[in-house]
Amino acid sequence: MKLATVAAALALAAGANAQISIPGLSTGCTTAFAGFIVGDLSSCLQVTALLPVLSSGGNSSAVPALNGYLSSLCASSTPTCTNATLSSAASRVRNGCTQELANSASIPSVILTVLDNYTPIQKAACSKNTTNNEFCVTDSLNTIQNISGTDVTFNTITSLLGGSADVESQLQQVLGTGDLCTGCVAGIYNAALEINSGVAGSSVGQAVTGQCGADFGMNVTGVSTPSAATGTPSQAVQSTTPSGGAASATWGTAPPPAWPEAVAYLTRARLAPSFPHALVPLLYTPPAPTKFGPRPTTHPSILAIKVVTAPGHPAHGQRSLIARKRLDAKTFLIPYLGILHADFTDAHGRRVDACGQPTASAHEASDYDLSLVRLSASDVRNPFGETSTLQEGQGPLHVSIGVDAAQAGNAARFVNDFRGIATAPNAEFRLGRGDAGEAQMEVWSTRRIEKGDEILVSYGKGWWGART
Ligand SMILES: *[C@@H]1O[C@H](CO)[C@@H](O)[C@H](O)[C@H]1NC(C)=O
Ligand SMILES: *[C@@H]1O[C@H](CO)[C@@H](O)[C@H](O)[C@H]1NC(C)=O
Ligand SMILES: *[C@@H]1O[C@H](CO)[C@@H](O)[C@H](O)[C@H]1NC(C)=O
Ligand SMILES: *[C@@H]1O[C@H](CO)[C@@H](O)[C@H](O)[C@H]1NC(C)=O
Ligand SMILES: *[C@@H]1O[C@H](CO)[C@@H](O)[C@H](O)[C@H]1NC(C)=O
Repeated sequence: MKLATVAAALALAAGANAQISIPGLSTGCTTAFAGFIVGDLSSCLQVTALLPVLSSGGNSSAVPALNGYLSSLCASSTPTCTNATLSSAASRVRNGCTQELANSASIPSVILTVLDNYTPIQKAACSKNTTNNEFCVTDSLNTIQNISGTDVTFNTITSLLGGSADVESQLQQVLGTGDLCTGCVAGIYNAALEINSGVAGSSVGQAVTGQCGADFGMNVTGVSTPSAATGTPSQAVQSTTPSGGAASATWGTAPPPAWPEAVAYLTRARLAPSFPHALVPLLYTPPAPTKFGPRPTTHPSILAIKVVTAPGHPAHGQRSLIARKRLDAKTFLIPYLGILHADFTDAHGRRVDACGQPTASAHEASDYDLSLVRLSASDVRNPFGETSTLQEGQGPLHVSIGVDAAQAGNAARFVNDFRGIATAPNAEFRLGRGDAGEAQMEVWSTRRIEKGDEILVSYGKGWWGART
């Protein structure tokens, strides 16, 4: 998907135009798109308001027309697309455009991405810079125009969605200035990650995090988003918010109370930018999906984060995890979220990167790093192992996948070791699976826990001993 996904937020505007500007669509696909001009989808995506964008001309700036389109799309009088509307349009595209969908960078594929991910894309497209009340998309495109000294035209946008290497390299140059490391772009990048977390590993994703920091997109500030989509057009029509998609909600899921400023709050695990795509299947039981896509979680109401004030407590001044009600034994409490990273060791026990070059692990010193998956070089499932064809010119590698919550995580990172606090732990880490089937570490109670008690594990046992 590459850049097509990063730019998917823009595809709300460019996508519906595909049957007009992209030649060579099959008859079935053209028929599928004909339905976009009429009906519910036409009104909730404001397809007719796209006409000025289409007539903006291939060689002049599309930004003013696009801004006008966003005003229509994000107006309070514009109904929210319902699931039924979106899924029937998506199935028409799936059935009509089988040929085109074989290419994941084709415009029909991009449109399908929009239909399947309407909520995050609509949120990103309608988000605004709270300082100047401009749409984030407009604001960011203006910045790109100012830096590059070139207009962003309709052709630029479609080339971008089509994965043009030229446009991609221009974008990377603009990224290199650091001027795109804004809250607005962070919000758009956040939406792109929500749609496909593999974006983090793409060349543009790497350029973004290389320039703006590994946590970019996790902390979105200075941006307002439309109120949560309800899926009911009548409610959206009756809404009294002023038109133009005015501020009404803050970005994303807020961290729970007592969350430390210095740590990014996650609602789902993320892949480190360097995480090799070939290792994603190891996180699933077959058949594995093609991309890592955990579902978001919410902070469990049974737990609270509390700053430790008791002077004798080993974690004095730090944080702890407390039961807000009585909890039964053998109960799932919370997933342990963080950044998933891979480490490699060669036959001589040296730490190397995926290409066999000596490296230092960024996670070795972390107190929040847990081991999830370990595969020896002789394991047939190991894509970097003895039976692998991936590795040329260097020996087979042992692989270890860990989850590190040092920089980013959820409340599970505050669970303390029982030593010095209680005579025994009341909880343990277990390997489990998230809602989308991905391997995850979890915190489970081992015995009954009373309201107000601290959740305590033993760091020294079992898999913790296997820490990388
Ligand atoms: C746009 O620019 C291209 C390349 O410079 C040129 O071939 C084309 O004729 C131009 N189109 C219009 C409508 O000016
Ligand atoms: C629409 O679909 C989304 C994603 O599948 C789901 O989370 C949401 O609850 C659905 N909304 C309605 C109103 O059915
Ligand atoms: C782009 O440049 C114009 C003219 O110099 C300026 O008015 C505008 O604020 C700039 N916009 C952004 C987003 O940098
Ligand atoms: C909003 O725009 C101002 C300048 O117009 C810029 O400095 C700021 O970074 C933008 N905010 C976000 C959240 O992008
Ligand atoms: C989020 O951004 C705000 C404002 O820039 C900053 O004060 C805060 O430290 C940031 N938090 C994280 C986790 O980066």
